[in-house]
Amino acid sequence: MSAATPSGEFEHPDVVICPGGPVLLRGEHVVADEQGRTHRTTRPVTAVCRCGKSATQPWCDGTHKVLPPRSRP
Ligand code: FES
Repeated sequence: MSAATPSGEFEHPDVVICPGGPVLLRGEHVVADEQGRTHRTTRPVTAVCRCGKSATQPWCDGTHKVLPPRSRP
C-alpha cells in the first residue's frame, strides 16, 4: 500500500490510469483477461492494455500509441 504525503497525495499509487493508454499496476497482482483466464504480474510495474489492440493481451505492447486519438482508451 502506498503511503500518503502530508498533503494527502500518494507518491506511488498502486494503480495509475494513463490517458489514452494502459493501466499501470504496481506490485503483485492477478489480472483476468476477457476470456476469464488469469495472469500473474511478474514485474515491479505492469502495463495492462485498455485499448484492446495489444498482441500480448492482457499486457500493453505500445500499440495504443499508433491508434487514432478517437480509438484510444
Ligand atoms: S493500451 Fe497499450 S496496447 Fe492497448
